[in-house]
Amino acid sequence: MHKRKRIDSKEIGLELALIFGGYFLKTEDLHYGYWTGDLDLNLSNLSRAQENYSNFIISHIPKNVKTVLDVGCGAGRFAHRLTNLGYQVDCVSPSPLLTERARSLLKNNSRIFECRYEQLRSERPYDLILFSESFQYVDMEKALQKSGKLLNDAGHLLICDFFKTEAEGKSFLGGGHRLTQFYDVIQRHPFELVENIDITGETAPNLDLENAFLVNCGFPVWKLALRFLDDRHSWLIKFLRWKFRTKIKKINQKYFAGARNAQQFATFKTYRLFLYKKTG
Ligand SMILES: C[S@@+](CC[C@H](N)C(=O)[O-])C[C@H]1O[C@@H](n2cnc3c(N)ncnc32)[C@H](O)[C@@H]1O
Repeated sequence: MHKRKRIDSKEIGLELALIFGGYFLKTEDLHYGYWTGDLDLNLSNLSRAQENYSNFIISHIPKNVKTVLDVGCGAGRFAHRLTNLGYQVDCVSPSPLLTERARSLLKNNSRIFECRYEQLRSERPYDLILFSESFQYVDMEKALQKSGKLLNDAGHLLICDFFKTEAEGKSFLGGGHRLTQFYDVIQRHPFELVENIDITGETAPNLDLENAFLVNCGFPVWKLALRFLDDRHSWLIKFLRWKFRTKIKKINQKYFAGARNAQQFATFKTYRLFLYKKTG
């Protein structure tokens, strides 16, 4: 008998981000913004900051690249930009909702492999394999092995994502492979480092935006919901509050205590653009 496939909570988070971002912020990009000095830090500038981020990646694509595999393409916006620039782009997307959006945007211009990168079965070669904030979701060893096989000779691997630092202390920010572990794994694969650019300073402000939203909007809504439930079903809610008291405490600490901010991000994470060239 087949085991039921569990829904991945991270995928649900990304799909929610797509729905809310698309509706309230008019952005379907699922990556951080790249905040330059001329942009005030507010939600209405998020889509411009995200466009800066895409421009930043595009400016680091090597000159000879023609074919690209966009791993974890989100709603397909970045792949769409690349196809408009003349690149031939294929995508990998394990999320049904994101794939549907990407398909309607990319039409027949791109092939979308609807699976996790680790499970991709294809021998089609590429000049560039791109991970735009998607590297943190893949198994590093398997992903690098696959990339080594799928890249053309002298092809490139571009990873733009955040990693965990070695900072001590408690962080309420999830996500990212440990940077030291990444260095350890990649040195066993046939890649030579071309660029390693630290963009933590430009991306960390996203956390201040998120924090302000959670504290000023998320927390009051959460409190209101609990008050309403207390009023309508008091004994049941009391029991549930007691039963899930540790979980509730964690949610409060993680999301509503102001601990998800730029300074914490800059301490516990490091956001990098890595460009590697295949050597063997
Ligand atoms: C934060 S979003 C980034 C989306 C897009 N690259 C961008 O820059 O807006 C992470 C993406 O990685 C994808 N993803 C998650 N796990 C994956 C896996 N194992 N293999 C391939 N893609 C994955 C998600 O479906 C999503 O599209």
